[in-house]
Amino acid sequence: MGPEAELLAALDAWQHQDVAYQPPWPDAAHLGAVRSRLATLPPLVFAGEADALRTQLAKAGAGEAFVLQGGDCAESFAEATADKIRNKIKLLLQMAVVLTYGASMPVVKLGRMAGQYAKPRSSQTETRDQVTLPSFYGDAVNSHEFDAASRVPDPERLLDSYHTAASTLNLIRAFTTGGFASLRQAHEWNRGFTQNPAYARYEEIAAEIDRAMRFMTACGVDVESLRAVDLFASHEGLLLDYERALTRIDSRTGLAYDCSAHFVWIGERTRDPDGAHVEYFAQVRNPLGVKIGPSATPDDVVRLVDRLNPAGEAGRLTFIARMGAGKVRDALGPLVAKTAADGRPVTWTCDPMHGNTITVNGYKTRRFTDVVDEVAGFFEVHRGLGTVPGGLHVELTGDDVTEVLGGAEEIDADGLARRYETLVDPRLNHQQGLELAFQVVELLRA
Ligand code: PEP
Ligand code: CO
Repeated sequence: MGPEAELLAALDAWQHQDVAYQPPWPDAAHLGAVRSRLATLPPLVFAGEADALRTQLAKAGAGEAFVLQGGDCAESFAEATADKIRNKIKLLLQMAVVLTYGASMPVVKLGRMAGQYAKPRSSQTETRDQVTLPSFYGDAVNSHEFDAASRVPDPERLLDSYHTAASTLNLIRAFTTGGFASLRQAHEWNRGFTQNPAYARYEEIAAEIDRAMRFMTACGVDVESLRAVDLFASHEGLLLDYERALTRIDSRTGLAYDCSAHFVWIGERTRDPDGAHVEYFAQVRNPLGVKIGPSATPDDVVRLVDRLNPAGEAGRLTFIARMGAGKVRDALGPLVAKTAADGRPVTWTCDPMHGNTITVNGYKTRRFTDVVDEVAGFFEVHRGLGTVPGGLHVELTGDDVTEVLGGAEEIDADGLARRYETLVDPRLNHQQGLELAFQVVELLRA
């Protein structure tokens, strides 16, 4: 076999084993036809962009930058509107400004956006009032509506995912290069949000940035170079049929890139070092993430390094720890110590959301205090070991939803009902996101 045939065989090796957490597609031929169609469509991102992100993630792993990864638990097609996308970008940019200014640290900006349409479900079915239907697997697979027809997995939705990702990315690219992301707009991003303490603190930073920009302009520095920012796209690489169909061989290097997103991560449920997901993503050049929960052992994490980053390339592999506030201080240390002893670089980030989910009044929610506490524990573990706390991974939205308990607006159990909109997991709202960024600044400075 020549090198290209070998690579293609490696890219298809996962198909010879069971793939965990795939939806029950009822019609394999239909799925196959959609895969063929997807394979002919243009890439959504480019190899060079994924390479640039890898370089930035390497810096975060070395303590020279900090990763901010955020967005919906599950993006929906209906909410891929200009307003909602702009609000999310605005919040990410505001949090990044707080972190950059507060901690004097470049921030690697990564949206859980433009592709986060599929969810792994612990239960294949959902029962309401004695009616049992297939679970909701995300808009990439079926519809959230609770009726039999809506819940049938439909491969056409993979094409809708591609097109929705394309239009979302188009808007992201326009907003981040067309002047909207200019630091001159830092005040503007806060407009309409001035009643809360987090917003007042943000206004102070925006005023200081204005002053610094005027100073730099007076010194002859070209501040126009600050007009554009890099905001990369990421999602969980769950549906291997979709990811495989969007994988392209880069003509410059002959290497495979998953062109559905700059960064893909393997979820907590699919991170088996011998499983199909690890097998597949080992073959692509994108920077990769793996969620690491409290059941992971030191051996597991080293086996993941062996599989996904055998050569120890900096920036290739990010471990996203999601332990829970009560467990992070005990569970994380042995894993980080093991990767540090191994020596091959890993960028460690903290997802303080998924280990802290509780149910209150029938709503899936999280306590803001647990979120903050897990991040604090994450920093404590790294400071104790002399390793690098490289970033933050959060579920958030730019809108004023009421899905997470607490924060300066003190959303309580009864308040959840006011504006609970998420399709899967509860998200930080705009002010909770900003508040968390301020807390992380304190931790980065300590
Ligand atoms: C998620 O990020 O929405 C998710 C399902 O996380 P995890 O794989 O960590 O449970
Ligand atoms: Co989630």
